[in-house]
Amino acid sequence: MWKRGTEVKLIIATIKPFKLEEVRVALTDIGIRGMMVTEIKGFGSQSGHTEIYRGAEYEVNFVPKIKLELVVPADQADQVVETITNTARTGKIGDGKIFVLDVSQAVRVRTGETNQDAL
Ligand SMILES: Nc1ncnc2c1ncn2[C@@H]1O[C@H](COP(=O)(O)OP(=O)(O)OP(=O)(O)O)[C@@H](O)[C@H]1O
Ligand SMILES: [Mg+2]
Repeated sequence: MWKRGTEVKLIIATIKPFKLEEVRVALTDIGIRGMMVTEIKGFGSQSGHTEIYRGAEYEVNFVPKIKLELVVPADQADQVVETITNTARTGKIGDGKIFVLDVSQAVRVRTGETNQDAL
């Protein structure tokens, strides 16, 4: 059965905190209507290293980042990735990472609408 809006993707992106407002505006400009924003700490290829303390290994040197989570129509995912990449890039280390995942279901709680209709 043909069903409208069956395909949505989850885009998880980490960016430098000072880039949040610029990225939000750029995403709004391409029609993105919702996202989750979380302050996180993490490390990538430079900043993380491990240390042994009382026999256990600890990771140190976490760097503050902003994590964005957006569920978008699958056919808009490339545009969203491109927009985040172009807007968040400074060209220096630590500009972040973007991951794209398949979503098996999205639901709007108020109405029970699903997938693209739930966005
Ligand atoms: N493999 C990973 N899995 C999950 N999150 C990651 C991973 N690598 C990096 N991150 C996230 O990205 C952040 C680091 O971003 P960063 O841009 O420094 O990555 P990088 O791989 O070191 O690239 P760069 O060379 O540009 O610094 C971390 O805080 C974490 O949020
Ligand atoms: Mg890094």
